[in-house]
Amino acid sequence: MITKLLNSKFKARLFVFLFATLCNNFIAQTLRTTNLEPCLAPFYHGVASGDPMPNKVIIWTRVTPDTVSANPILVSWQMATDTGMTNIVQNGSKITDNNVDYTVKVDVTGLTANTWYYYEFTVNGLKSPRGRTRTTPASNADSLRFAIVSCANYEAGYFNAYKVMLNRADFDAVICLGDYIYEYAAGGYSPNPAVNRQWLPANEIISLSDYRQRYSTYHLDEDLRRLHQQFPFITVWDDHESANDAWMNGAENHTSATEGPFAVRKSNAKQAYFEWLPIRQTAGAADPYQLFRKLTYGNLVDLIMLDTRLHGRDVQSGTTGAVVNASTRQLLGTDQFSWLGNRLDSSTTRWKILTQQVMFAPLKVLGQAVNGDQWDGYPAERTRVMNHILNNNISDVVVITGDIHSSWANDIPTASYNSSTGSGSAGVEFVGPSVTSPGISLPGGASAIQLSNSHIKYADLSQHGFYILDVNNNRTQCDWFYVTTIDNSSLAYTHAKSMYVNHLERFLRNTTSASLPRQSVFGTLAPICPRIIAPNPAGIAEYSDLKLLNVFPNPAENQIILSFLNNDIKNGTVTLYNSLGQKAYELNFTGSDMYNSQLTLNISELNNGIYNGTVKRNGKLTFFKFVKNSN
Ligand SMILES: [Fe+2]
Repeated sequence: MITKLLNSKFKARLFVFLFATLCNNFIAQTLRTTNLEPCLAPFYHGVASGDPMPNKVIIWTRVTPDTVSANPILVSWQMATDTGMTNIVQNGSKITDNNVDYTVKVDVTGLTANTWYYYEFTVNGLKSPRGRTRTTPASNADSLRFAIVSCANYEAGYFNAYKVMLNRADFDAVICLGDYIYEYAAGGYSPNPAVNRQWLPANEIISLSDYRQRYSTYHLDEDLRRLHQQFPFITVWDDHESANDAWMNGAENHTSATEGPFAVRKSNAKQAYFEWLPIRQTAGAADPYQLFRKLTYGNLVDLIMLDTRLHGRDVQSGTTGAVVNASTRQLLGTDQFSWLGNRLDSSTTRWKILTQQVMFAPLKVLGQAVNGDQWDGYPAERTRVMNHILNNNISDVVVITGDIHSSWANDIPTASYNSSTGSGSAGVEFVGPSVTSPGISLPGGASAIQLSNSHIKYADLSQHGFYILDVNNNRTQCDWFYVTTIDNSSLAYTHAKSMYVNHLERFLRNTTSASLPRQSVFGTLAPICPRIIAPNPAGIAEYSDLKLLNVFPNPAENQIILSFLNNDIKNGTVTLYNSLGQKAYELNFTGSDMYNSQLTLNISELNNGIYNGTVKRNGKLTFFKFVKNSN
């Protein structure tokens, strides 16, 4: 009898588990995570903009559908010159559906150069947060400032670099040099137990759905979401947007035997990148997801964006030997190299900034290059780039780089390089710290490297943060800033180092001070949340440690079951708000109401519609959402 009871109970639990798993797939596609701000519905992932030009800019959002449906969603958008959205200058509408993961990307044209704009999206009468963006100057530009980031491992810590940048708000655009996401499974790459941040999905990302979910996790990060909202982004991918140490036809972290053809994974990765980031597709390109492109800031800066990963890179083969030193070896590929040469030759701007992934200048330890994943593994192509610059007398070339979770300032030495005078340098390179990804903790390591690499003028191997590139007609200066911690949400940071290159010089100079504040007038920040659906109870500032695994069924008829990962839930309050923000249901529950970490709510009295729910425990909230639909 006891056995039979256990068996029937076991079967019931198994059924619930299987049902929950089925529903979980449903929820994953609709909600992606429970850490949502109800006031943003259905625009939980915020808004973004990017690839600005004098007369146009990309604006972006994602609509989270209420149900899994093949139905397309009509989204309208408008752009104004004021935060109140009264002086509308452009508007339109666009249909989105699952073919683009319900993302929305519009190239808004007909704009005025060098101008701040505000924009918002609307679906079914619900408005998105208001975004802010800026067009580039068309001709004269005296001064520009970019905030530059790379390597943001969500599980390694808080994105305080993004938080600090947003707080400073003194730059024209954010440049991301790659590793915007990481591809590993949950806990697979330096998870930080102090922050307990977990990305979705839990598995290593391989399929299109996987990549989409990982971007969803990132866009739900409050610091990143708010930074996207306030500044245009200009981005290139590095390896982890596909897989570690990616090259044209494979990656170190890809096993075809178990993970399928790399070409399929690469295609998935590129598609999701173009869906989820505000990047412009290149008209006429054979590859719809071609990364290399150029953005021009008046007569001051050409950002020449390169793809040293997926377009034409030969497989890594260390740093020595016949394969590495072959004259035919490529990092860019023939067509991209030729495109780069043409962009350099035809540039009409003072500064030519090569915006790319891996370190360009050589790096040797005990006289030997050590990283075959950098340009050190592709010496012939590096020489071709330097020769093109020098043989065509192209001045004012600056390389900016991410990838290696450490900060560097390099002259780019040719065979005649003199480290005392800087003569024989082809240009300069600035390499930035990671947002959170781990560097190398090696006391004295940076000094030792500089001693044996005389062209390396600064190195820090372990700090996290960002750098500012401040550009005017006389010089380009790099200021490195490091955050104090990534273990908790914090605005604390310090200025660590500044170096610059003068116009018509090709080598670095030292300065002790960070760039002075710009004289330009910076625009007004856009409001974070223009409307509230669910009341935000006073004093609730943080999300709960409550892990809501599942809400099912959804849509629901008479009851819904909340399934938690926590097994120690003693009491709390569940509140449901209807789509007007009115409280429609409240339940104070105790531990005796829980069964197998599940709580059942009787919703038979509720009207049909969409409900935002909160579970309040220990003064903190967890959010969920479901659809009531009974005939
Ligand atoms: Fe990285």
